[in-house]
Order: sequence, then C-alpha cells, then structure tokens
Amino acid sequence: MRTPIIAGNWKMYKTLHESVDFVRELAPRLAPFTGVERVVCPTFVALAAVAEALKGTDIKVGAQNMNWEAQGAFTSQIAPTMLQGLVEYVIIGHSEVRAYLHETDEDINRKVKAALAYGLKPIIAVGESLAQNEAGETEQFVGGQVRTALNGISADNMRNIVIAYEPIWAIGTGKNASGDLANSIIGGTIRGTLAQLYGNDVAQSVRIQYGGSVKPGNMAEYMSQPDIDGALVGGASLKVDDFTQLVEAAAKAKGV
Ligand code: 13P
Repeated sequence: MRTPIIAGNWKMYKTLHESVDFVRELAPRLAPFTGVERVVCPTFVALAAVAEALKGTDIKVGAQNMNWEAQGAFTSQIAPTMLQGLVEYVIIGHSEVRAYLHETDEDINRKVKAALAYGLKPIIAVGESLAQNEAGETEQFVGGQVRTALNGISADNMRNIVIAYEPIWAIGTGKNASGDLANSIIGGTIRGTLAQLYGNDVAQSVRIQYGGSVKPGNMAEYMSQPDIDGALVGGASLKVDDFTQLVEAAAKAKGV
C-alpha cells in the first residue's frame, strides 16, 4: 500500500519566527496521524530552525527548490549539498518556479538527478495551464513533463520520488479540479506514463499527490480517489486548523 503524503508548500509566506512558532503549534496536532506522512516546506531561511524545532517528531521538512550544481559561483542559489541532512524532501518543478525563474523540463531533470545523488527525495510538480486544458492538451503535456523530468532515472530510484499533479489553473484560484478529473490524470496519464517507462509494478508503487486549491472542505473528495495518494497544499497549509483537518481527512479516507 502507498503511504499517503501531505506536504505544505509555504511558498514566500511566514518569516523565520512565524515558521518556528507555527510548527511548534502544528506538531502536536498532527502527532496522532502516524499513518500519513506529513511534510512542511518553509522558505530557505527558516529550514534549519524548523528542522530543529521538529526534532523528535515524525514531521518531515522539505525545501521548495534547489540548484543542480554541488557548489559554485551561482549567486543566490542553494545547492543540494546544503540541503543534505537538513531536509528529506525537495519540491522540484513547481509551476511558479517554472514561470518566474524560467525553469525548463531539462533543468528539472538535472535537479531530480542531483537530488537523488545527494539522498534527497524529489516531489516533482507537473501540470497544465488553463489554455492547454481548454485545448484538450492536458494528457500529452503532463505526460511529456513526466517523461522529461524522469529521463535517465532508474526504476530503483522511483521509490524515492513523489509526483504532484498541480493544474496551474487550480493553484491559488479556488477553482479546484474535481476529484474525478484529478484521479483520471493521476491514474491514467501519470501512472500510465510511469507504466510505459518502468512497468506496472513501479507505476503502482509511486506516490502521486494532487495540488491546487486543496481545502478541508474538498480534501475527502480527493482522498477517496484510488489513485490520489495525498496533496501538495499551499494556502490551507498556512493555518494550523486547516492543515490538521487535511491530514485527518486523509487518514480517515485512506483508513490509516
Ligand atoms: P494552493 O493550495 O494555495 O492552491 O497552492 C497549491 C500549490 O501550489 C502547492 O504547491
């Protein structure tokens, strides 16, 4: 069985102190739900302090991006070597990074390889724009993003990879994809692509999240879908009550 995974992507929200205060309040609330993997992804400057505050809990920490080089003259960038030992996960290919920092599918593939090489687990984000969705291009586009991101990645490494399907039109808009639609892209397109690349056993073992306007009120709709293994959450992960309700809903729907 695939262990459900809920990750809070805090984007450019919460200062260092707000982040630490938040996880001190959040950790005991999430503690009972041991059947769900729970991850927080704060801003870089808060990673070390949040990791320290969560020591002794089973809540994991993730980064929101990284460079693929081990070190070098890359002003402003964060290397995988700097995240090693600090975080377990790293979000790679978020649509905001693709859009604002002009990250390409090839960059994402380099980052995935670098993350794995340094023992970090990538959460690879994919998803189509509204225009692509309306033009009926979702399956081809998302399948292509998955293929390029995983170019040269072995089947063995797939156990350390999580994929997040985040349709761009659903992010921060309140216009979430229906559970059925999300399940069909995740189960059909993404698992289908994984099956072509690695065979059915691997395709069935990889955890795939939905992301985009996930809230306590719609979480059960996603978690009751057979192919959706969790959520990558922005806005609702910034509130202790909401985050807790999301994890509780996942535990209930998945029976863990
Ligand atoms: P929202 O949950 O705020 O729509 O953000 C989703 C997201 O981008 C998570 O990575």
